[in-house]
Amino acid sequence: MNKKKVLLAAPLLLALGTSAFAQSGEVNIICSAQADWCNLMQTTFGKTRGIKVNMTLKGSGEALAQLVAERANPKTDLWFGGTGDPHLLAAEQNLTLEYKSSALTQLHPWAQKQAAQAGFKTVGVYSGPLGFGYNTELLAKKKLPVPKVWADLLKPEYKGEIQVSDPRASGTAYTMIATLVQLMGEDKAFTYLSALHQNVSTYPRSGVGPIKAVARGEAAVSISFVHDAPGEKAQGFPVDAITPADGTGAEIGSMSIVKGSRNLDNAKAFYEWALTPGAQQFGAAAKQFQLPSNKNTPVDPRVPDFKKIKLIDYDYAQYGQSAIRKQLILNWERKVFNQPK
Ligand code: G6P
Repeated sequence: MNKKKVLLAAPLLLALGTSAFAQSGEVNIICSAQADWCNLMQTTFGKTRGIKVNMTLKGSGEALAQLVAERANPKTDLWFGGTGDPHLLAAEQNLTLEYKSSALTQLHPWAQKQAAQAGFKTVGVYSGPLGFGYNTELLAKKKLPVPKVWADLLKPEYKGEIQVSDPRASGTAYTMIATLVQLMGEDKAFTYLSALHQNVSTYPRSGVGPIKAVARGEAAVSISFVHDAPGEKAQGFPVDAITPADGTGAEIGSMSIVKGSRNLDNAKAFYEWALTPGAQQFGAAAKQFQLPSNKNTPVDPRVPDFKKIKLIDYDYAQYGQSAIRKQLILNWERKVFNQPK
């Protein structure tokens, strides 16, 4: 480099910060949160660090299936977001790497616990409760009440009006099954789910499919994470959400580094960044209203207030086991999905 070029480069270096030149190359990320958030992180991290982010969007169950399929030859470096159970399962199956962030102590206890119980092969990045989404205009037009408790969804007047996602692909639907099993016991939960089947019009593959259908008036009610409602509402759709008065579960949206990652330094850089309050604010900026895991991240008023919700003590360690997940999903296929209507 000649002297003139060095002189030109110096102010640029100062403006971008040394980190812009400290890293290079790429990082391959599967993102299981909503597209707007994933895309915002992709662009911001890419621009500020000079690292090319190749981002694939996949539901939690599908992301796990991809990591299993890639086991011998991993193409993915990091998995961001999606419900925590499949992240625990990936840890159990040794698909993800033990990594302890220096930011761990800045995280809420639930996020730290998620890491500890996976031998630090995952970490909590956000949390949000499960509930019911509903279209206020459609309910009024059809003279249907807002469902308040789980049993309300079984009422015949909701026939064909409800959507919930498919637990084989979606972590949201798996969270629902695990929640019901913990609330009612397994036998009663499957009796409930087969009765619910009569009222469900369709099972979309993505967890946000049902609330998007509700927002657009294609269904009256969805079983969804309630933090997905304010984002739809902000776009002008007549949608609201409620958590069942008889109790519900919450997800611990998680993040894991893939074992055998070929861009490990860049994966770690993204991981550390994603746990900072600065990066976690991009959730609300992308109209995603989960509770961020870093205690110092500002909390948007649209984030559900956990203190007002009747939450079960969701056993993440239990429902994050592959044998349990496999059996529950198989039962759902046999006793619910494959049953006639
Ligand atoms: C949405 C929610 C996330 C959740 C994810 C799960 O994006 O906003 O909080 O983790 O769905 O997606 P899935 O398709 O696996 O149900």
